[in-house]
Amino acid sequence: MLLTVGNKDIPPPAWHHWYKPGHHRHKRSGYYGSKQTLKECIRRVNHVIEGIFHSGGPGEYGFSLCGIIALELSLMASMTATSHQELILDQFTRQAIPFSNAKTIADESALRLLVEFSRAGPQDSVLDVACGGGLVVCAFAKVVQHATGIDVTPAMLDRSRALARDEGLSNVSWKQGDVESLPYPDGAFTIVVSRFTFHHFQNPLAVLKEMVRVCAPNGHVVVADVAVSTDAAKAAEFNRMEILRDPSHVRAMQASELRELFRSAGLPEPRATAYELRDELENLLRRSFPNPGDEQKIREIFAASALDDRLGIPVRRQESRIHYAYPVAVLAALKPPSELSGAAAK
Ligand SMILES: C[S@@+](CC[C@H](N)C(=O)[O-])C[C@H]1O[C@@H](n2cnc3c(N)ncnc32)[C@H](O)[C@@H]1O
Repeated sequence: MLLTVGNKDIPPPAWHHWYKPGHHRHKRSGYYGSKQTLKECIRRVNHVIEGIFHSGGPGEYGFSLCGIIALELSLMASMTATSHQELILDQFTRQAIPFSNAKTIADESALRLLVEFSRAGPQDSVLDVACGGGLVVCAFAKVVQHATGIDVTPAMLDRSRALARDEGLSNVSWKQGDVESLPYPDGAFTIVVSRFTFHHFQNPLAVLKEMVRVCAPNGHVVVADVAVSTDAAKAAEFNRMEILRDPSHVRAMQASELRELFRSAGLPEPRATAYELRDELENLLRRSFPNPGDEQKIREIFAASALDDRLGIPVRRQESRIHYAYPVAVLAALKPPSELSGAAAK
């Protein structure tokens, strides 16, 4: 099938390879899409083609080429977002139980620190963005009026419900959804928090802006995440290792980048604190699902880092064991009254 634009017959972009009934995998790109995604791709293609025709008609070859490039870019963006979402679902369906039960993740003193640093009290209504197994929601629920968790992974939400039930908490609610577009009205919560999630987002600023939008004026926006070394090469090596360990990892930022993100989202300079997630490498690997063969590469990177600090985090070898500490940055800012925040948060 050829696509005719102007007087040129142009071979279709690769999209006809992407979808075969009952077989959605595109061999070269590794794309593994759903029919729903295909529909979205086609909708975007149609949108671009309409754009070409509506803005003066498809006369010139150069003009047509621009249209085709836009079309390809649009398809690629859609494909990338979808495959990332599928990586998230794949990883966190598998990680749901081991992640939520991990000593470092369920650590009560770290959860208490987050609740206290958010200045939570009995009048607060909290939203936890990408809530995973509900540990943060349940920690807040013991202190605030109501706590809500939203996450894209159903298996994680199953863990959340089970945890709330076990802890006898009734002031909690759960929702499945993508946090790039939060299904809540402006100013719906007095605290909006997210922990260990920003390194999984392809567009962290878009998520932070959504967090700001659903936070009430004078409410708190709080982000806790792994913070990488200020040495760019070590930060890159850490991120490379994390992608091997968890293919849904996108990029952990430096604490200063997280701070900059707050400014870009229209928030004032955040308060900050920090702590470390300390554990043994084998415990971390036990709850990780790297691609086959990558586990040994990860051990080798940690072993090397114990000697040359290539990951830029504390790593120590004790006989056959490797101990590590991931630095965590916790940032919190008050959302200014609406007349001050406006433009940047849109
Ligand atoms: C490392 S877990 C953190 C869970 C929880 N915040 C905690 O601290 O225990 C990351 C979570 O982010 C969720 N997630 C990642 N990207 C998401 C997105 N775009 N929308 C909703 N949830 C997302 C995953 O499903 C997973 O449950």
